[in-house]
This record gives sequence, structure tokens and C-alpha cells, in this order.
Amino acid sequence: MKINGKNFRTIWHTFGAESDAKNAIVEIIDQTLLPHAFEVKCISSLEAMVTAIKTMQVRGAPLIGVAAAYGMALALQRDAGDAHMLQASKELLASRPTAVNLRWAVERMLARLQPLAAPARLSAAWAEATAICEEEVVLNQAIGQHGLKLIQSLISIKATGGQILNILTHCNAGWLATVDWGTALAPIYAAHDAGLAVHVWVDETRPRNQGASLTAWELGQHGVPHTVITDNAGGHLMQHSKVDMVLVGADRVTRTGDVGNKIGTYLKALAAFDNQVPFYAALPSTTIDWAMTDGLHEIPIEERSADEVALVTGRLATGELATVNILPAGSKAASPAFDVTPARLVTGIITERGVCAPGQLLAIFEKT
Ligand code: MRU
Repeated sequence: MKINGKNFRTIWHTFGAESDAKNAIVEIIDQTLLPHAFEVKCISSLEAMVTAIKTMQVRGAPLIGVAAAYGMALALQRDAGDAHMLQASKELLASRPTAVNLRWAVERMLARLQPLAAPARLSAAWAEATAICEEEVVLNQAIGQHGLKLIQSLISIKATGGQILNILTHCNAGWLATVDWGTALAPIYAAHDAGLAVHVWVDETRPRNQGASLTAWELGQHGVPHTVITDNAGGHLMQHSKVDMVLVGADRVTRTGDVGNKIGTYLKALAAFDNQVPFYAALPSTTIDWAMTDGLHEIPIEERSADEVALVTGRLATGELATVNILPAGSKAASPAFDVTPARLVTGIITERGVCAPGQLLAIFEKT
């Protein structure tokens, strides 16, 4: 996707002049600084990658999967032996618990690397991480094309001529949360590029404001009409027929179609259900946990620092950034970062294989 007209991905790697796998580095867009500053950060060790994932310099389920794959390659630069490789995988797996893409990517790296002799592992690790990265882009492009057809059909049902389709989204499930294109935003970009009239209601997504800071920024960069709303506004807008579709991403989806996503998603699904607004989740198959059947009880929910609730960062009128504490002294805060929307509230799931009912994931991926 483009930033000020220049193509970017969220993560990439660079080999030195002599294609030296030992000194290759990874670069990321530091998402903690957006929308106030655009900075590329160099990641040159396993420790730096674990920190980038934990502090959410990289974030979003598909992107942290790719970041973890590159983290494995960085780890092997120091030592490609079994003990170090397994220790690296453990550190990456412990960095964030909810998005299953991270586990999927680490397991795929181990499956590729463990059978190899240590000296052959480093170049294989870079090749495998690169393959995971490239495949993720293809998956998200396919989600965009399937979702585009869905948006076209919703417009044709609604349109008596020239009407705008209003889509509500939560958190950031755009290209910043993936390598390119996005999950929930991929169909929106495809629709906008196809000349369809779409407008996006962007939930600010407290406490970290991924909607206000990231989704609004990337939609703006691409010229997609959007309006940022408070997290509590969606239900009211749905009651007044101002939302035609809710479209979110996901961090972990069970084989039965329960959707784990950013905290607050469940409340949007309840409001959508009560107002007969279709609720869709868009995700690549790397986000499906085929071992899980009961999202509410099985999906691990990350508990983040209470500081994320207490502290708000923004730009002062003078242009400087400032962080302020909005809580009374002595008040406690808590920050469960994800929730689970049961399959019964989900109209459909958009994957690289197409659009299906939540209960049809097994069939569409031909799993038993
Ligand atoms: O805590 P974050 O910012 O990593 O959470 C991200 C989300 O919940 C996204 O909605 C999700 O990963 C969708 S992925 C494109």
C-alpha cells in the first residue's frame, strides 16, 4: 500500500551487499509512533523482535506471525543449534498469546528447520520466513477480492441509485496489521479502487486507539472516506440505519467459527444482531485454530498493562506529543485486550477460499 504515493509493506528484510544471511536485518514500520510520525526501525536480533512484538511496534495477527518467522531467522544468526533454536521459539511464542498466527508461523519454521543439519538452517530460515511473508500477501489479496463481491452484492441490495455503503470496523485490520492489503480493510480497498461508494465508520478502539491512530491513518492515505467514532457510538448508528455492514478482522477463530478479536468486537456483534446488520469477520486461514471448538473457554485472552487504560498520548496544539493520565489517583484499571464473538452472532467469514457461514469453515478448507 502507498504512503504519500510510495509503496510500502509493514515488514521486509535486507541482505547485505554479499547476500550474507549472517548479517541480514529486518525492517518494520514502528506502529507505536503512528499517526504522528512515520519511522522505519531496524530489527537485528531475536531480542529486538520479541520486544517489537511485545510493545506492539508490530501488531495485528498476520503481521506478528510473519514477524515471529523473521525472529527465528534472526535467532539462528547467532546459533543454529537445537537448544538455541528451541529457546528462540519459546521466547517468540510467549511474546503475545492471543493471535494464533504467531504459533502457526513458529511451528512452520520449526518443522522446516529441525530436520536440517545446523549449518544448513540459517539460509533455509530466511527462505521460509520470506515464503511465509509472501504467502500472507497473496492470502490477503484473495480476501480482498472475495470481500469485494460481498460488498458489491450488499450495494446492489441497498442501492436505488448512487447510495453509499456504510461499513463499521473495529481496531485495525488493514495493511498495517498484515504485510500488505489487510484483512477487513482489503475488501474495502478493493471496493474503493473499483469505484464503489463506501464509507467507513472507524471505532477509535480504546485503550490503544488502533482505530483512531492506525485505521483512520491508512484509510486516509488511500483516500477512502471515513469517520472516526467513539467505541460506544456503533449501536446508536445501527439503530438509525447508518451501518450497512460490520466488518472486522480476527486474532484467532475456532473451527466452529467463534471469532476472537480486539476487545469490544463482541459488543458490536450484539448490536449488529439486534439491528439485523450483517456482521462479517475477514481472516486468512493462518488465523484459524483447527484444534479449538469453544472460543469463549479456549481462546487465551491477553491481559495488557493497566497503564494502557490510564495513559493517553496525543498531539498538543503546539505540535508536541504529550502523554497524560486520565484516571483519579488510586483508581485501579484493567485491560483485557481481546474478546470472543460466538459463531451464532457471525453472519459470515471471509477467507482466501471465499465467504462462508461460520459453521462451514471445516468444509471450505476440507478438514475433518
Ligand atoms: O492488539 P493488536 O493491535 O495486535 O490487535 C489487532 C486486532 O485485534 C486486529 O483486529 C486483528 O489482529 C485483525 S488482523 C488483520
